[in-house]
Amino acid sequence: LYTSKILGIETSCDDTGCAIIDDSGRVLSDVLHSQNLIHLRNGGIIPDIAQDLHRTYIGPTVSKTLQQACLSMEDISAVAVTLKPGLPLSLAVGMKYAKHLARQYDKPIIPIHHMEAHALVARMEHDIVFPFLVLLISGGHCLLAIVKDVNNIQLLGESRDSAPGEVFDKVARRLKLKNIPEYSKLCGGEAIERAAMKSTDHSMFKLPLPLTDHKDCNFSFNGLKTSVLYHIHKKEKEHNIVADKLIPEVNELCASMLNAITKHLIHRTQRAMEFCQRNKLIPDNNKQFIVSGGVACNNYIYNCLKTLCEETEYSIFRPNPKLCTDNGLMIAWNGLEKWKKGLDITKDYKSLDIEAC
Ligand code: KG4
Ligand code: ZN
Repeated sequence: LYTSKILGIETSCDDTGCAIIDDSGRVLSDVLHSQNLIHLRNGGIIPDIAQDLHRTYIGPTVSKTLQQACLSMEDISAVAVTLKPGLPLSLAVGMKYAKHLARQYDKPIIPIHHMEAHALVARMEHDIVFPFLVLLISGGHCLLAIVKDVNNIQLLGESRDSAPGEVFDKVARRLKLKNIPEYSKLCGGEAIERAAMKSTDHSMFKLPLPLTDHKDCNFSFNGLKTSVLYHIHKKEKEHNIVADKLIPEVNELCASMLNAITKHLIHRTQRAMEFCQRNKLIPDNNKQFIVSGGVACNNYIYNCLKTLCEETEYSIFRPNPKLCTDNGLMIAWNGLEKWKKGLDITKDYKSLDIEAC
Protein backbone atom coordinates (compact mmCIF):
# COMPACT_ATOMS: atom_id res chain seq x y z
CA LEU A 1 0.00 0.00 0.00
CA TYR A 2 1.45 3.38 -1.00
CA THR A 3 1.61 6.04 1.68
CA SER A 4 2.58 9.65 1.06
CA LYS A 5 5.80 10.79 2.66
CA ILE A 6 6.74 14.42 3.21
CA LEU A 7 10.33 15.60 3.62
CA GLY A 8 10.60 18.83 5.63
CA ILE A 9 13.55 21.25 5.51
CA GLU A 10 14.11 24.11 7.98
CA THR A 11 16.96 26.65 7.78
CA SER A 12 15.33 29.93 8.79
CA CYS A 13 17.77 30.87 11.53
CA ASP A 14 20.63 28.87 13.06
CA ASP A 15 19.40 25.28 12.96
CA THR A 16 19.63 22.98 9.96
CA GLY A 17 16.64 20.67 10.42
CA CYS A 18 15.24 17.88 8.28
CA ALA A 19 12.58 15.23 8.91
CA ILE A 20 10.27 12.79 7.14
CA ILE A 21 6.70 12.07 8.13
CA ASP A 22 4.15 9.73 6.51
CA ASP A 23 0.48 10.46 5.89
CA SER A 24 -0.64 8.83 9.11
CA GLY A 25 1.55 11.33 10.97
CA ARG A 26 4.21 8.76 11.82
CA VAL A 27 7.71 10.23 12.17
CA LEU A 28 10.08 8.24 9.98
CA SER A 29 13.17 10.29 10.82
CA ASP A 30 14.16 13.58 12.35
CA VAL A 31 17.64 15.15 12.21
CA LEU A 32 18.82 18.47 13.60
CA HIS A 33 22.17 20.16 13.25
CA SER A 34 22.37 23.05 15.71
CA GLN A 35 24.80 25.95 15.29
CA ASN A 36 24.16 27.13 18.84
CA LEU A 37 27.66 26.56 20.25
CA ILE A 38 29.36 28.48 17.46
CA HIS A 39 27.01 31.47 17.79
CA LEU A 40 27.40 31.36 21.57
CA ARG A 41 31.17 31.72 21.10
CA ASN A 42 30.66 34.64 18.70
CA GLY A 43 28.31 36.43 21.09
CA GLY A 44 25.32 36.21 18.74
CA ILE A 45 24.28 35.07 15.30
CA ILE A 46 26.32 36.49 12.43
CA PRO A 47 24.18 35.90 9.30
CA ASP A 48 27.11 35.12 6.97
CA ILE A 49 28.43 32.50 9.36
CA ALA A 50 24.96 30.99 9.80
CA GLN A 51 24.64 30.75 6.01
CA ASP A 52 28.04 29.09 5.61
CA LEU A 53 27.16 26.50 8.25
CA HIS A 54 23.78 25.78 6.61
CA ARG A 55 25.59 25.32 3.29
CA THR A 56 28.02 22.88 4.88
CA TYR A 57 25.40 20.85 6.74
CA ILE A 58 22.28 20.88 4.54
CA GLY A 59 23.45 18.04 2.25
CA PRO A 60 24.65 15.71 5.04
CA THR A 61 21.53 16.49 7.14
CA VAL A 62 19.14 15.59 4.32
CA SER A 63 21.13 12.43 3.48
CA LYS A 64 21.12 11.35 7.11
CA THR A 65 17.37 11.92 7.31
CA LEU A 66 16.72 9.72 4.25
CA GLN A 67 19.14 7.08 5.54
CA GLN A 68 17.51 6.95 8.99
CA ALA A 69 14.13 6.34 7.36
CA CYS A 70 15.65 3.78 4.95
CA LEU A 71 14.22 5.80 2.06
CA SER A 72 15.56 7.45 -1.07
CA MET A 73 14.32 10.63 -2.73
CA GLU A 74 12.21 8.53 -5.15
CA ASP A 75 10.02 7.48 -2.20
CA ILE A 76 9.27 11.09 -1.17
CA SER A 77 5.94 12.63 -2.28
CA ALA A 78 6.79 16.30 -1.72
CA VAL A 79 9.42 18.57 -0.21
CA ALA A 80 8.16 21.06 2.38
CA VAL A 81 10.54 23.95 3.05
CA THR A 82 10.49 27.15 5.11
CA LEU A 83 9.83 30.15 2.86
CA LYS A 84 9.64 32.86 5.56
CA PRO A 85 10.08 34.58 7.98
CA GLY A 86 13.72 34.34 9.02
CA LEU A 87 17.23 35.42 8.10
CA PRO A 88 17.18 35.77 4.29
CA LEU A 89 20.69 34.32 3.92
CA SER A 90 19.75 31.26 5.99
CA LEU A 91 16.34 30.78 4.35
CA ALA A 92 17.94 30.90 0.90
CA VAL A 93 20.12 27.84 1.62
CA GLY A 94 17.14 25.62 2.51
CA MET A 95 15.06 26.87 -0.41
CA LYS A 96 17.89 26.43 -2.91
CA TYR A 97 18.53 22.89 -1.71
CA ALA A 98 14.81 22.02 -1.75
CA LYS A 99 14.53 23.30 -5.34
CA HIS A 100 17.60 21.32 -6.36
CA LEU A 101 16.11 18.11 -4.91
CA ALA A 102 12.65 18.81 -6.34
CA ARG A 103 14.01 19.44 -9.85
CA GLN A 104 16.30 16.46 -9.83
CA TYR A 105 13.60 14.02 -8.68
CA ASP A 106 10.57 15.79 -10.21
CA LYS A 107 8.83 16.42 -6.88
CA PRO A 108 6.49 19.22 -5.86
CA ILE A 109 7.49 21.78 -3.25
CA ILE A 110 5.24 22.96 -0.40
CA PRO A 111 6.36 26.37 0.90
CA ILE A 112 5.91 26.78 4.65
CA HIS A 113 5.48 29.81 6.90
CA HIS A 114 7.79 29.23 9.88
CA MET A 115 5.36 30.66 12.46
CA GLU A 116 2.43 28.66 11.14
CA ALA A 117 4.59 25.54 11.50
CA HIS A 118 5.38 26.44 15.15
CA ALA A 119 1.62 26.78 15.76
CA LEU A 120 0.41 23.69 13.92
CA VAL A 121 2.97 21.19 15.20
CA ALA A 122 1.06 20.93 18.49
CA ARG A 123 -1.59 19.03 16.50
CA MET A 124 0.94 16.30 15.79
CA GLU A 125 1.06 15.15 19.42
CA HIS A 126 -2.29 16.31 20.75
CA ASP A 127 -5.87 16.04 19.67
CA ILE A 128 -6.42 19.73 18.92
CA VAL A 129 -9.10 20.99 16.53
CA PHE A 130 -9.52 24.36 14.80
CA PRO A 131 -9.93 27.09 15.96
CA PHE A 132 -7.43 27.52 18.78
CA LEU A 133 -5.53 30.36 20.40
CA VAL A 134 -1.74 30.34 20.16
CA LEU A 135 1.09 32.22 21.86
CA LEU A 136 4.38 31.96 19.97
CA ILE A 137 7.41 33.05 21.91
CA SER A 138 10.91 32.62 20.49
CA GLY A 139 14.19 34.34 19.79
CA GLY A 140 12.75 36.12 16.79
CA HIS A 141 9.02 36.41 17.54
CA CYS A 142 6.33 37.10 20.02
CA LEU A 143 2.76 36.89 18.85
CA LEU A 144 -0.78 35.91 19.74
CA ALA A 145 -3.03 34.50 17.03
CA ILE A 146 -6.14 32.47 16.37
CA VAL A 147 -5.44 29.47 14.17
CA LYS A 148 -8.71 28.95 12.29
CA ASP A 149 -7.44 26.41 9.81
CA VAL A 150 -4.31 25.44 7.88
CA ASN A 151 -3.47 28.66 5.96
CA ASN A 152 -5.96 30.73 7.98
CA ILE A 153 -4.44 32.52 10.93
CA GLN A 154 -5.77 35.72 12.48
CA LEU A 155 -3.04 37.76 14.15
CA LEU A 156 -4.22 39.36 17.41
CA GLY A 157 -1.01 41.06 18.45
CA GLU A 158 2.76 40.95 18.19
CA SER A 159 5.87 42.57 19.63
CA ARG A 160 6.48 46.17 18.70
CA ASP A 161 10.19 45.74 19.32
CA SER A 162 12.28 42.76 20.40
CA ALA A 163 11.28 39.17 21.12
CA PRO A 164 11.53 37.64 24.62
CA GLY A 165 14.18 35.05 23.60
CA GLU A 166 16.29 37.83 22.12
CA VAL A 167 16.12 39.71 25.44
CA PHE A 168 17.04 36.57 27.41
CA ASP A 169 20.00 35.94 25.10
CA LYS A 170 21.22 39.53 25.30
CA VAL A 171 20.93 39.78 29.09
CA ALA A 172 22.57 36.35 29.56
CA ARG A 173 25.54 37.62 27.53
CA ARG A 174 25.71 40.86 29.47
CA LEU A 175 25.53 38.93 32.77
CA LYS A 176 28.37 36.69 31.51
CA LEU A 177 26.38 33.58 32.43
CA LYS A 178 28.42 31.39 30.11
CA ASN A 179 31.40 31.87 32.45
CA ILE A 180 29.57 29.61 34.89
CA PRO A 181 30.55 26.09 33.75
CA GLU A 182 27.09 24.54 34.23
CA TYR A 183 25.58 27.19 31.95
CA SER A 184 28.41 27.37 29.40
CA LYS A 185 26.61 25.32 26.73
CA LEU A 186 23.07 26.59 27.33
CA CYS A 187 21.19 29.18 25.29
CA GLY A 188 20.49 32.45 27.10
CA GLY A 189 16.89 31.66 28.02
CA GLU A 190 17.71 28.33 29.59
CA ALA A 191 20.68 29.73 31.53
CA ILE A 192 18.48 32.52 32.91
CA GLU A 193 15.76 30.04 33.88
CA ARG A 194 18.28 27.88 35.79
CA ALA A 195 19.79 30.90 37.55
CA ALA A 196 16.33 32.26 38.41
CA MET A 197 15.32 28.96 39.99
CA LYS A 198 18.20 29.34 42.48
CA SER A 199 16.72 32.56 43.82
CA THR A 200 14.01 32.69 46.46
CA ASP A 201 13.27 36.34 45.76
CA HIS A 202 11.46 37.05 42.47
CA SER A 203 11.04 40.78 42.93
CA MET A 204 14.29 42.17 44.35
CA PHE A 205 14.69 44.35 41.26
CA LYS A 206 11.88 46.68 40.26
CA LEU A 207 11.12 46.32 36.58
CA PRO A 208 8.38 48.03 34.55
CA LEU A 209 5.33 46.09 33.33
CA PRO A 210 4.95 47.19 29.70
CA LEU A 211 1.79 48.40 27.90
CA THR A 212 -0.55 48.00 30.88
CA ASP A 213 -2.75 50.83 29.64
CA HIS A 214 -2.86 49.61 26.03
CA LYS A 215 -6.10 47.82 25.27
CA ASP A 216 -4.65 45.52 22.64
CA CYS A 217 -2.68 42.29 22.48
CA ASN A 218 0.69 43.70 21.45
CA PHE A 219 3.93 43.22 23.33
CA SER A 220 6.99 45.30 24.09
CA PHE A 221 10.21 44.14 25.72
CA ASN A 222 12.71 46.94 25.08
CA GLY A 223 11.78 48.93 28.21
CA LEU A 224 12.26 45.84 30.35
CA LYS A 225 15.56 45.06 28.67
CA THR A 226 16.90 48.58 29.18
CA SER A 227 15.87 48.49 32.81
CA VAL A 228 17.63 45.14 33.41
CA LEU A 229 20.80 46.39 31.69
CA TYR A 230 20.69 49.49 33.89
CA HIS A 231 20.48 47.34 37.06
CA ILE A 232 23.47 45.27 35.90
CA HIS A 233 25.50 48.42 35.26
CA LYS A 234 24.57 49.83 38.66
CA LYS A 235 25.45 46.64 40.52
CA GLU A 236 28.77 46.30 38.68
CA LYS A 237 29.72 49.80 39.78
CA GLU A 238 28.52 49.21 43.32
CA HIS A 239 30.63 46.04 43.69
CA ASN A 240 33.57 47.25 41.56
CA ILE A 241 33.11 44.30 39.20
CA VAL A 242 35.74 43.92 36.49
CA ALA A 243 36.32 41.67 33.47
CA ASP A 244 34.86 38.17 33.72
CA LYS A 245 33.42 38.45 37.23
CA LEU A 246 29.66 38.22 37.80
CA ILE A 247 27.53 40.39 40.08
CA PRO A 248 26.60 38.62 43.35
CA GLU A 249 22.87 39.23 42.77
CA VAL A 250 22.90 37.44 39.43
CA ASN A 251 20.30 34.82 40.42
CA GLU A 252 17.95 37.41 41.92
CA LEU A 253 18.20 39.61 38.85
CA CYS A 254 17.43 36.64 36.56
CA ALA A 255 14.44 35.81 38.77
CA SER A 256 13.09 39.37 38.71
CA MET A 257 13.52 39.54 34.95
CA LEU A 258 11.87 36.17 34.30
CA ASN A 259 9.03 37.20 36.57
CA ALA A 260 8.53 40.52 34.76
CA ILE A 261 8.58 38.94 31.29
CA THR A 262 6.15 36.26 32.45
CA LYS A 263 3.77 38.84 33.90
CA HIS A 264 3.73 40.70 30.59
CA LEU A 265 3.06 37.48 28.64
CA ILE A 266 0.24 36.53 31.03
CA HIS A 267 -1.29 39.98 30.91
CA ARG A 268 -1.46 40.04 27.11
CA THR A 269 -2.62 36.42 26.83
CA GLN A 270 -5.43 37.12 29.28
CA ARG A 271 -6.51 40.07 27.11
CA ALA A 272 -6.47 37.85 24.02
CA MET A 273 -8.64 35.25 25.76
CA GLU A 274 -11.18 37.89 26.77
CA PHE A 275 -11.20 39.24 23.22
CA CYS A 276 -11.77 35.75 21.78
CA GLN A 277 -14.68 34.99 24.10
CA ARG A 278 -16.30 38.41 23.69
CA ASN A 279 -16.20 38.13 19.90
CA LYS A 280 -17.01 34.42 19.85
CA LEU A 281 -13.80 33.62 17.99
CA ILE A 282 -13.13 30.57 20.16
CA PRO A 283 -16.11 28.35 21.11
CA ASP A 284 -17.02 28.44 24.82
CA ASN A 285 -17.26 24.66 24.93
CA ASN A 286 -13.81 24.03 23.43
CA LYS A 287 -11.29 26.61 24.58
CA GLN A 288 -7.83 25.45 23.51
CA PHE A 289 -4.62 27.38 24.10
CA ILE A 290 -1.22 26.45 22.66
CA VAL A 291 2.13 27.90 23.66
CA SER A 292 5.10 27.17 21.42
CA GLY A 293 8.46 28.54 20.21
CA GLY A 294 11.81 28.20 21.98
CA VAL A 295 10.84 30.34 25.00
CA ALA A 296 7.88 27.99 25.66
CA CYS A 297 10.49 25.48 26.93
CA ASN A 298 10.62 27.67 30.05
CA ASN A 299 8.78 25.85 32.82
CA TYR A 300 8.24 28.92 34.98
CA ILE A 301 6.47 30.68 32.08
CA TYR A 302 4.56 27.51 31.21
CA ASN A 303 3.35 26.96 34.78
CA CYS A 304 2.12 30.55 35.08
CA LEU A 305 0.26 30.18 31.77
CA LYS A 306 -1.22 26.95 33.09
CA THR A 307 -2.58 28.76 36.14
CA LEU A 308 -4.10 31.41 33.87
CA CYS A 309 -5.73 28.65 31.78
CA GLU A 310 -7.22 27.07 34.89
CA GLU A 311 -8.83 30.41 35.73
CA THR A 312 -10.11 31.05 32.20
CA GLU A 313 -11.12 27.41 31.60
CA TYR A 314 -8.82 26.92 28.62
CA SER A 315 -7.06 23.60 27.97
CA ILE A 316 -3.35 24.27 27.60
CA PHE A 317 -1.03 22.40 25.24
CA ARG A 318 2.70 22.67 24.74
CA PRO A 319 4.69 20.64 22.18
CA ASN A 320 7.61 18.73 23.71
CA PRO A 321 10.76 20.89 23.99
CA LYS A 322 12.37 19.41 20.86
CA LEU A 323 9.32 20.55 18.87
CA CYS A 324 9.08 23.96 20.57
CA THR A 325 12.48 25.11 19.30
CA ASP A 326 13.25 25.23 15.58
CA ASN A 327 13.21 21.81 13.93
CA GLY A 328 12.59 20.09 10.61
CA LEU A 329 9.70 18.00 11.86
CA MET A 330 7.33 20.94 12.28
CA ILE A 331 7.98 21.84 8.63
CA ALA A 332 7.27 18.25 7.53
CA TRP A 333 4.09 18.23 9.65
CA ASN A 334 2.86 21.52 8.21
CA GLY A 335 3.69 20.15 4.75
CA LEU A 336 1.55 17.11 5.50
CA GLU A 337 -1.37 19.24 6.70
CA LYS A 338 -1.21 21.20 3.42
CA TRP A 339 -0.67 18.04 1.35
CA LYS A 340 -3.86 16.49 2.72
CA LYS A 341 -5.85 19.61 1.85
CA GLY A 342 -4.13 20.18 -1.49
CA LEU A 343 -2.82 23.61 -0.47
CA ASP A 344 0.19 25.42 -1.98
CA ILE A 345 1.66 22.34 -3.66
CA THR A 346 3.68 23.54 -6.62
CA LYS A 347 6.16 22.59 -9.30
CA ASP A 348 6.54 26.20 -10.33
CA TYR A 349 9.90 26.39 -8.57
CA LYS A 350 10.67 29.82 -9.96
CA SER A 351 7.75 31.32 -8.02
CA LEU A 352 9.45 30.45 -4.73
CA ASP A 353 11.82 33.27 -4.00
CA ILE A 354 13.21 34.28 -0.65
CA GLU A 355 12.59 37.96 -0.03
CA ALA A 356 14.09 40.02 2.72
CA CYS A 357 11.74 39.74 5.70
O1 KG4 B 1 12.15 28.88 18.41
P1 KG4 B 1 13.63 29.02 18.59
O2 KG4 B 1 14.46 27.77 18.58
O3 KG4 B 1 14.24 29.93 17.48
C1 KG4 B 1 13.62 31.06 17.01
O4 KG4 B 1 12.80 30.95 16.06
O5 KG4 B 1 13.95 32.12 17.58
O6 KG4 B 1 13.86 29.83 19.94
C2 KG4 B 1 15.16 30.12 20.44
C3 KG4 B 1 15.02 31.01 21.63
C4 KG4 B 1 16.35 31.54 22.16
O7 KG4 B 1 16.27 32.94 22.26
C5 KG4 B 1 16.49 30.90 23.53
O8 KG4 B 1 17.15 31.72 24.46
C6 KG4 B 1 15.04 30.66 23.92
O9 KG4 B 1 14.39 30.31 22.73
N1 KG4 B 1 14.89 29.60 24.93
C7 KG4 B 1 14.43 29.80 26.17
C8 KG4 B 1 14.50 28.56 26.85
N2 KG4 B 1 15.01 27.64 25.99
C9 KG4 B 1 15.23 28.31 24.81
N3 KG4 B 1 13.97 30.92 26.75
C10 KG4 B 1 13.56 30.82 28.02
N4 KG4 B 1 13.62 29.68 28.75
C11 KG4 B 1 14.07 28.53 28.22
N5 KG4 B 1 14.13 27.41 28.93
ZN1 ZN C 1 11.27 29.49 15.40
